[in-house]
Amino acid sequence: MQDITDLPFWRLLHRYGGPDLYCTEYFRVHAHSVPERRIVEAITGNDTGRPVVAQLIGNDIPALVRTARFLQQLPVAGIDLNLGCPAPVVYRKCAGGGLLRDLPRVDALLKALREVVRVRLSVKTRLGFDTAEGFEALLDLLAAHPLDWVTVHGRTVSEGYRSPVRYDLIARAAERLPCPVIANGNLHSAQQALAVHRQTGVRGLMIGRGAIRNPWLFAQIRTCGNGAPKPVPRGRDVLAYLHALWEATAVPGLTERGQVQRIKKHLNFVALGVESTGRFLDGCRRATRAAELFALWEAHLDHDRPLPLEPLPLPLGERDLLAGVHC
Ligand SMILES: Cc1cc2nc3c(=O)[nH]c(=O)nc-3n(C[C@H](O)[C@H](O)[C@H](O)COP(=O)(O)O)c2cc1C
Repeated sequence: MQDITDLPFWRLLHRYGGPDLYCTEYFRVHAHSVPERRIVEAITGNDTGRPVVAQLIGNDIPALVRTARFLQQLPVAGIDLNLGCPAPVVYRKCAGGGLLRDLPRVDALLKALREVVRVRLSVKTRLGFDTAEGFEALLDLLAAHPLDWVTVHGRTVSEGYRSPVRYDLIARAAERLPCPVIANGNLHSAQQALAVHRQTGVRGLMIGRGAIRNPWLFAQIRTCGNGAPKPVPRGRDVLAYLHALWEATAVPGLTERGQVQRIKKHLNFVALGVESTGRFLDGCRRATRAAELFALWEAHLDHDRPLPLEPLPLPLGERDLLAGVHC
């Protein structure tokens, strides 16, 4: 996830159990691109003991091939092609989710990448661009390539992050594709994630925002799946997590105000697990100084009550980036 899943964040997640596999932020690939140094350093510095998949976004075949060749000299377990990013600046250039409007191009990209990628090659896709009507055709195309897995975020590109997730279509992908399918989208508690796992027949789960709110989620899924009692963090555990997140989001040379802005991306999601009036979220969004944030965190989290396992239904504007996180 852009600006979130860097090496300090992987390390932080790892302290709470972490996933089986980490994905990088995407490398922006075009004719003149040089792989972003900070992402390369996340791969070479990965000391979590868990494998890393490097994600690419772009549509220029020679550039993607060149980048894939370079990345395979690093300790990557796989290369993933992004077919889902809904940011207009990306999709208007026919990259990320924009590629779902040009399946012949996807076909050519996958053919070229498979010829040079000796590690695992995977795709992260949505259901279509404007509608899911072409999903069967997309599955036919993906089935024709020897991919190692396909991750399906069960929304169209136009739906962004807000609409309900089509787990039925993720199940269809798991049935149709010869390779393993990974389900993605609004997996926010261990119980619900395991139910989706069972219902869809997928081989794995990919979790984004839910893990920022609740870094214990991976451990909870593992123990819940084993029938063992799951770890239930308390307010003070979340408080300690937020202070660790503050350390993890520090960047040399960044001003205090800059770091407060930076951690707000994460706090948007954490807020869904703190209280339901929206006061915590609002306070986080207004803060400009570290001391303000720390006081706010303390006021809301210095207690022993358990963290809610499901995100709380906060009063949100229709266009708030968090709206729909519950669907
Ligand atoms: C801030 C943010 C950054 C993201 N960056 C990426 C990215 O770089 N690559 C990618 O494949 N998906 C990216 N996504 C999409 C997530 O990986 C995921 O598909 C989506 O959020 C749905 O899953 P979730 O409900 O578990 O978060 C991003 C999402 C958010 C909210």
